[in-house]
Amino acid sequence: MRIGVLRETVSGERRVALVPDAVAKLVAAGHQIAVQRGAGEAAGFLDAAYEKAGATLAADAAALCGGNPEIVVKVRKPSSAEAALLPKGSTLVALLTPGSNDDLLPALKERGLTALALELVPRISRAQSMDVLSSQSGVAGYKAVLVGASALDKFLPMLTTAAGSIAPAKAFVLGAGVAGLQAIATARRLGAVVSAFDVRSAAGEQVRSLGAQFVEPAAKAEGTGGYARAQTEDEASQNAAIIADHIKSQDLVLTTALIPGRKAPILVTDAMLASMRPGSVVLDLAAESGGNVEGSVPGETVVRHGVQLIGVANIAASVPLHASQMFSTNVRTLLTHLSGENGALTVNAADEITGPMLVVHNGAVPVKAS
Ligand code: NAI
Repeated sequence: MRIGVLRETVSGERRVALVPDAVAKLVAAGHQIAVQRGAGEAAGFLDAAYEKAGATLAADAAALCGGNPEIVVKVRKPSSAEAALLPKGSTLVALLTPGSNDDLLPALKERGLTALALELVPRISRAQSMDVLSSQSGVAGYKAVLVGASALDKFLPMLTTAAGSIAPAKAFVLGAGVAGLQAIATARRLGAVVSAFDVRSAAGEQVRSLGAQFVEPAAKAEGTGGYARAQTEDEASQNAAIIADHIKSQDLVLTTALIPGRKAPILVTDAMLASMRPGSVVLDLAAESGGNVEGSVPGETVVRHGVQLIGVANIAASVPLHASQMFSTNVRTLLTHLSGENGALTVNAADEITGPMLVVHNGAVPVKAS
């Protein structure tokens, strides 16, 4: 396959879709890789490393696309200008924010493209190594704790010093999925006393296995495929009472609760923020999906009742080296899957991994079984 790697253009996006190590593996498997100059620079991967790995370098996006790649990989969806450069009939692989009401889909259709949205990798064991939502959520959960710890007016660990004994800080994680579990593990390593809340039963065991306290929900809201479902009004108000009671004694709160395909649920209200100690810190990792905390603004820190409320935005990009390495492993595994037995690009709409990821197939929107 002829594979092209574009440089990211979204402000603050420091990740790259394929790192040199993955390029070397794909080249060894017989694929040809072209990389836009500077594509890996912000993540610490220089052009020379790509050349050493066997890639050719293209001066800019136009030159890369002019080389006629069959498949183009990116982290973030292309801008309209980039989409207009993609070779007719080629395949695009990136985070495409499917469902968002933008003009990308018509542009891709018009060029007869095929596009695979990385967000739609099915959550089956065979596809686990291609799952960028999982890999990047893990990065986000880790980094969010560090951001929160540095914003906090306290130490996280217990300290016994000649200047007195310091009690450990209390950290509370709402939503114990991939990001939440990594946040729990990180906060525990830093010495905080950690508790977590989730509406899925499986989460309780996972939280406890990390040595944190599980705050039992009053009402569970299990969905399908290991996900939560939206709560009814009654369930939400019962759970809100539990959260309200627990949150008032917490120093650092991280929220990560998402419902696939829906706006994130509000779990922390303004009244709950008002009940917290001034100086405490709340990080809303769901800020870009509608927010779990009333009043959070993606990419901004606001102060409510003396509590710092951090609206986390694209935090995985702030750990660009490892986030790119993990993203790249996901993409390489997917590319290997797409290359089929003879090494040629095969996009099979009936395939259990490729099918669900297809947002455009040869210029047409595929009809999917609901
Ligand atoms: P997610 O990002 O959709 O949601 C994050 C967490 O928020 C989940 O644990 C969810 O239960 C929780 N949540 C939703 N509504 C809530 C509410 N009202 N109150 C409290 N918590 C709420 O989910 P994520 O983290 O991507 O994955 C969730 C689970 O899916 C994992 O723990 C795992 O069991 C499964 N999974 C399976 C994979 C596979 O088989 N390939 C890959 C990744 C995850």
